[in-house]
Amino acid sequence: MELEDINTVAVLGAGNMGHGIAEVAAMAGYDVNMRDIEEEFVQDGYESIEWSLDKLAEKDRLSRDEADAAVERVTPLVDMEEAVADADFVIEAVPEQMEIKKDVYGELESVAPDHAIFATNTSSLSISELAEVTERPERFCGMHFFNPPVRMQLVEVISGEQTAEETLELTEDLAEEFEKTPVRVHKDSPGFIVNRILVPLMNEACWLVNEDEATIAAVDSTTKYGMGLPMGSFELGDQVGNDVSYHVLEYMHEVLGEAYEPAPLLEEKVRNEELGKKTGKGFYDYEDGPGVEIP
Ligand code: 3HC
Repeated sequence: MELEDINTVAVLGAGNMGHGIAEVAAMAGYDVNMRDIEEEFVQDGYESIEWSLDKLAEKDRLSRDEADAAVERVTPLVDMEEAVADADFVIEAVPEQMEIKKDVYGELESVAPDHAIFATNTSSLSISELAEVTERPERFCGMHFFNPPVRMQLVEVISGEQTAEETLELTEDLAEEFEKTPVRVHKDSPGFIVNRILVPLMNEACWLVNEDEATIAAVDSTTKYGMGLPMGSFELGDQVGNDVSYHVLEYMHEVLGEAYEPAPLLEEKVRNEELGKKTGKGFYDYEDGPGVEIP
């Protein structure tokens, strides 16, 4: 398949990443089927796309007409078969848990067209293990976006053990069509490149606070004003979703060892469903606006 043969992109999952990826694909002119398991989830995702495109138009990052055209290209769906029947490229962005993803791939394989490429937006899980559930491991790869997809330039394109070179090249071309910068990750190892570096940083910040060696505000001030990252470690954790960082760490802990043990503070946030911006509370409060005050 050539880049020109890709007309319809199906995005599975309408959460933070799913709706952001659907938005990016629609802005690039593709017809997008965005699917989640409940009507409420797809509607929330659709409204988030409308909100985001509106913001971008307000800030002259695209015109009103372009924003309207992009939102019209997105079809929110619950039925898997309907979502993928005419898909040339499927991007999966369902929760970061191996069993959930495997179930989705089992269902997807039985209804997707033979020619379609499957790309997972997993943050850390093994591409090769996920590909085994399908009958197309050569047309299966990682396509990892960053939060928020519409603002972040990078896309990691990850090879599984059996991914064909043409699949990787086509995925890189598609990332460029999305006006992103793809970086090839040639080895399928937990967390790939970015999360192998970034998630331990967020975890270490939690350990510092856990052991009462620093406050959240002090850590975030140093991350932002000392290391020059655009957000503090805790601010970023809330942006990414504390459940996402936790699941990435759990997996890295299991596969790579002790150094990646999730800090109890992070575990507690997940247990209390204080997942960050998406639930209105994480390390900071978002109910009355951003709520982040870093001295
Ligand atoms: N769509 C449209 N607008 C958005 C938006 C979205 N999805 N998200 C935020 N905005 C808006 C905000 O509401 C705000 O609007 P306001 O000015 O009206 O209040 C505005 O964007 C802020 O944007 P600015 O350009 O003014 O601010 P910044 O220069 O700080 O840029 C940022 C924002 C690009 C998000 C920047 O803070 C940043 O780069 N943060 C780091 C994000 C990051 O590192 N992400 C990767 C995390 S790791 C990951 O995702 C991997 C996963 O697998 C774990």
